[in-house]
Amino acid sequence: MCWGSLPRSFREHWEVPGAPRVTSSRVSRTRGLGSVAAALRGPEEVRADIAEVRELTDKPFAVNHTRRPFNNEAFQVTLDERPPVVSLALGEPSDLVERVHDIGSLFIQQVQTVQQGVLAAEAGVDVIIAQGGEGGGFSGMVGTMALVPQVVQAVSPIPVLAAGGIADGRGLAAALVLGAQGINVGTRFLASTEAGISEVWKQAICSAESEDAVKIEFADYVVPALTEGGWQSVPRSLRTPFIDSWNDRKEEASRQADSLRDELRIAMEQGRAHELIPLTGQSAGLIHEILPAAEIVRGFVKEAERALQVVSGT
Ligand SMILES: Cc1cc2nc3c(=O)[nH]c(=O)nc-3n(C[C@H](O)[C@H](O)[C@H](O)COP(=O)(O)O)c2cc1C
Repeated sequence: MCWGSLPRSFREHWEVPGAPRVTSSRVSRTRGLGSVAAALRGPEEVRADIAEVRELTDKPFAVNHTRRPFNNEAFQVTLDERPPVVSLALGEPSDLVERVHDIGSLFIQQVQTVQQGVLAAEAGVDVIIAQGGEGGGFSGMVGTMALVPQVVQAVSPIPVLAAGGIADGRGLAAALVLGAQGINVGTRFLASTEAGISEVWKQAICSAESEDAVKIEFADYVVPALTEGGWQSVPRSLRTPFIDSWNDRKEEASRQADSLRDELRIAMEQGRAHELIPLTGQSAGLIHEILPAAEIVRGFVKEAERALQVVSGT
């Protein structure tokens, strides 16, 4: 589960303190790989988050950074803490791979195009996440079904995880059939008991249709800018009046960028940022109840086994 693409102040106002680390640790304890979101955390916050996960589980976990933005001091803290896995999204892995390998950890890179996958493979990453445009948060434009097999083929023998639009065991089974070794999931875990987002957002996910999760076309005017080596992408969110009113008026949004940022900042300060941009993927249409994270992970495996048995006729 990844979180860091929300601005830091979003995290403070949208999350119950500590809860995301609880979700990550529950995922790790149930044979998944939980992820500590570091993208918008300062160095000391990253250190504290890692310590908290270590208190909650002795199982492997990842620490996730992004290039939107990239904080080298926070990344250095991650290296000092030597987590088993470090992951990166939204930009080039470049020399980060070597720095992670130097501490004996594995490097996972999330990509949104085949070209980015090839670049990651050439940089020496250990695992590649092929993330389709259905995904919540920052996601690309190519659908998961088309992207995954192409990335698998282009980066073989590097293992690939499929992401975007996967919320149950049927999606996991499909990912395996496409040649992926596993999946990376965001939206399904937002609607988990432990996720530190507002109950209103969780309920909105449970009652949403897939078509309610739209791209925020004007996001560049309200969220942090790309840092060096960053890859352009457009976040996906449940529709809100705020998104509806600006999506068709991008030019006007660019002129009013300051006031849009202010509106968002005030909403964050009042703890209602999810009323404006509740980042969520199209898999919301598959999600109908809030479940404990461990139950979600176990359900993925059980349902995938059943789905694969059904199609293979065994
Ligand atoms: C609210 C939210 C925040 C996210 N933040 C990050 C992040 O900080 N880093 C990252 O690598 N991926 C992030 N993602 C993307 C996930 O890693 C994953 O690729 C995506 O959620 C998969 O699609 P799904 O939402 O359909 O499961 C985020 C996703 C969501 C929904």
